[in-house]
Amino acid sequence: MANYKAMRGTQDVLPSQSGKWQYMEQTALSVAQDFGYREQRTPVFEQTELFQRSVGETTDVVQKEMYTFLDKGGRSVTLRPEGTAGAARAVLEHGLLNGALPVKVSYVTSCYRYEKPQAGRLREFHQFGVECFGAAAPQADAEMITLAKTILDSLGITGVSLHLNSIGCPACRARYHEALRAYFTARQDELCETCRGRLERNPMRILDCKSPMCAEIAAGAPVMLDYLCDDCSAHFEEVKGCLTDAGLDFVVDSKIVRGLDYYTRTVFEFISDALGAQSTVCGGGRYDGLIEELGGAHVPSLGFAMGLERLLLVMEAKGAEFPEEPRCEVYFASMGPAAARACFVMATRLREGGIAVEFDTVGRSLKAQMKYADKIGARYTLVVGDNELNTGEAKLKDMETGDQQDVKLDDSLYTILYNKSLDRQLAGMTDLLGGDLTGLE
Ligand code: HAM
Repeated sequence: MANYKAMRGTQDVLPSQSGKWQYMEQTALSVAQDFGYREQRTPVFEQTELFQRSVGETTDVVQKEMYTFLDKGGRSVTLRPEGTAGAARAVLEHGLLNGALPVKVSYVTSCYRYEKPQAGRLREFHQFGVECFGAAAPQADAEMITLAKTILDSLGITGVSLHLNSIGCPACRARYHEALRAYFTARQDELCETCRGRLERNPMRILDCKSPMCAEIAAGAPVMLDYLCDDCSAHFEEVKGCLTDAGLDFVVDSKIVRGLDYYTRTVFEFISDALGAQSTVCGGGRYDGLIEELGGAHVPSLGFAMGLERLLLVMEAKGAEFPEEPRCEVYFASMGPAAARACFVMATRLREGGIAVEFDTVGRSLKAQMKYADKIGARYTLVVGDNELNTGEAKLKDMETGDQQDVKLDDSLYTILYNKSLDRQLAGMTDLLGGDLTGLE
């Protein structure tokens, strides 16, 4: 047994699973690319103040969940709890917002939150996210939501519902805060200690407190939609109108307030029916004040992030399809050191041409090598011993049908394997299209 284990709330992705991760990430990145997004990569740690400023001092994330430490230079550093703050910092720092707007970035990142781990809730988790800086129109909100939905659809995820809300702008929210203060003050003795502290500074944060008592009290609190100013209300109406016209189902859900302080106006979550308590697979919204908060101009912006661990759980629960794992095309089984060297050379040549090849590097018996070839799912095997080296010929065995074919151990082997792989691709496409493509060669 190993002496060490992965730390609580963290997870390894083993080789048998990594194909699924690559598929989710590539699908999300490529759909986002069709919407004009390009990937941006930012550091895993930032100065702590960036998150205090953007995510907000009174949020659970900042108050309870951040991995914050002093580095050896005495600076306060935090492992990113989410992707938006770093993305905004980067576009601002590098002057991207001085060029043509909107600036659209996507990312796949690890995030860190000191939460109580359970299914779908980890301390190190991964997000796919997008951020669009400089788009004020309500159609941008609808487009953002459509992007999230297209990704979920492309991954074959069913049973998710879109929950939509507006949490207004600082102007209308001030009136709402007053109403919330009045409501919660009447029951302040029953609130948890953190929420009593939030009452004055940011009463909206009480609405997403995880303590059961606070949640029960919050259930009867006034709702933001009743306090929206005319502009915020018109914006929200247009977002809903766009989604309706595009045929996207949604529910207006006044409970969606999001756990991060930077949001303004539209907020949304996609909620899955396949997960228990941690059912939100995607969350996002508009954050018109964030860039200003970080020292830039007024740049209305918006985005979302999806939890990749949760997406994977949903896909598995729903029996969504993943692409077939790449297979070894040909396995060279060798007998004796001269054959082993010849196999190495042939493998190198074939790999240069893009063919997936493996050969024995363990020194196993021929029988064990064939067993191994079967285990790794090699399509073909080729046994090379002294006899084959002398004649320059060997038998290529199809591992599925058992058919054998005489082949020469020279460059013609490449052509044979290449053609076989082309034939397979063509057959795959024919299956997919349900027609006969053979005439197209
Ligand atoms: P968030 O709602 O905090 O938003 O996180 C987004 C998604 O990350 C969640 O819906 C969930 O799927 C996943 N997630 C969050 N915490 C955990 C956890 N502890 N374990 C596993 N998965 C988790 C944000 O982070 C915003 N930055 C999203 C955004 C981007 N808004 C605008 N732009």
